[in-house]
Amino acid sequence: MNKSVPVIAVDGPSGVGKGTLCQALAKHFKWHLLDSGAIYRALAFSALKQGIALDDASQLEQLALNLPLTFDTHSCGVKVLLNHVDVTKDIRTEQTGGAAAKVASINSVRIALLQRQRDFKQAPGLIADGRDMGSVVFSDAPVKIFLDASAHSRAERRMKQLQDKQNHVKFDEILREITARDERDRNRTVAPLKPARDALEINTTSKSIQDVFNQSIEYINKKLAL
Ligand code: DC
Repeated sequence: MNKSVPVIAVDGPSGVGKGTLCQALAKHFKWHLLDSGAIYRALAFSALKQGIALDDASQLEQLALNLPLTFDTHSCGVKVLLNHVDVTKDIRTEQTGGAAAKVASINSVRIALLQRQRDFKQAPGLIADGRDMGSVVFSDAPVKIFLDASAHSRAERRMKQLQDKQNHVKFDEILREITARDERDRNRTVAPLKPARDALEINTTSKSIQDVFNQSIEYINKKLAL
C-alpha cells in the first residue's frame, strides 16, 4: 500500500447521502472512488444466486476471497461486473442491501475483503465510501468524515432514489428496512458502524447536498493544507 497516497474516508448509515458526497468529492479532486458497500452487495448477490446461506461463514469467506468482481469506470458512472456480467442494478435492491448487511456482520468475510478494498488506494488519492473506512480499512486516513441523519430523512432520501429508478416502493417499508439494517450495522460485534475518534461528524438531516459538500471541502482543504 502506498503510504503517501491520501485517503478521504467517508462513513455513515444508509441513505445519509454518502454516495452523493463521495461522487462529488471524487469528481472535484479527480481521485479514485471506492464504493465498499457495492462489494458487500455483490458478495451477497452472488451468495443468493448460488444458494449459499447468508450465515455460512466458511463458504462466504471462500466466495469473498475469490469473488470475480470488477468495477468498470466510464464517463457516465461506474459499472459493477460480476464474472463480466453487469450487475449494477441488481445489487441496488433493498433485498440485496438486507442480505449485504447480513454477510457484512461475519468477521472472516470482512477480513477476506480487506485487501481488495485497500488496493483501491492509488495515486493521486482515494475517496472511500462505507461504514468502517475511517475506523478499520483506512484507519490512518488523514481525513475522516462521518455523516449521520434521522432514520426518517434517510428513508425519504432512499425512497426518492428508488423512485427515480422507477422501483415501486412504500415509505413505511423503506423506513422499516433502513431501521433494521442500521440496527444490524451499528450493533454488530465486528467493525460496527460508528464514527472514528478523529472523524468530523456532519448531521445531514436538514442540510442540502451543497451545504454538506461545502462543509466537507472546507474541512478537507484545511486538513490536507490544500
Ligand atoms: O452502503 P450500502 O448500503 O451499499 O451497503 C450495503 C451493506 O453493506 C450495509 O448494510 C452494510 C455493509 N457494509 C459494511 O458493512 N461495511 C462497509 N464498509 C460498507 C457496507
